[in-house]
Amino acid sequence: MTMDIVLLRKSFERAKAENGGTTALGLAFYKRLFEKYPSVKPLFHTPPEDQHKKLMASLGAIVAGVEQPDRLLPYLHAMGVRHLKYKTENAHYAAVGENLMAVLADHLSKEGEWTTPMAETWEAAIGVVAKTMIEASDNPDAFKEELATFGYQADGFKKNDAEPWRQLEVAAPK
Ligand code: HEM
Repeated sequence: MTMDIVLLRKSFERAKAENGGTTALGLAFYKRLFEKYPSVKPLFHTPPEDQHKKLMASLGAIVAGVEQPDRLLPYLHAMGVRHLKYKTENAHYAAVGENLMAVLADHLSKEGEWTTPMAETWEAAIGVVAKTMIEASDNPDAFKEELATFGYQADGFKKNDAEPWRQLEVAAPK
């Protein structure tokens, strides 16, 4: 499974520009998720109209930071640890990944092509994101120090930032 960073970026740019952009993509994500996987619906308390903006902002941050693993990994570890509070289970990641692939395919095939290399790239990227988040949520204590270095609390949240999904952090100077 290969991840082509140029293709990842290009296809995300297309997702933003085409077929109603990330609003349509994000709303389609939650509509399909709740239809196909109704058991996860009760975990969500933020309405899709707001929640989809957070998911799309985090995808934007991930795509932008994909070549900076020293910033991207702590961001994903913090996000994985935050998901403990949301009662996310490891098995849910496959459902969320399948759902994201399906809505991306639908979204991007409306005004252009959804190709096999695009599918492979997104599958690889989502796989790395899920694996990295799970690594941290499985063993949050092991990531405490790293999270602190990047300004996160042990629970993955931040004291002075209500929207920690928006951007990747730089390590604090020692
Ligand atoms: C691809 C991996 C995922 C990404 C990028 C992602 C992204 C996000 C973001 C950005 C937030 C906003 C709050 C925060 O950042 O702490 C959030 C909240 C949440 N996510 Fe995820 N998530 C992922 C996987 C999952 C999975 C597998 C589930 C399981 C169903 C899940 C369930 C939730 C819930 C329940 C919330 C809180 C919603 C609320 O405020 O009511 N997420 N997610």
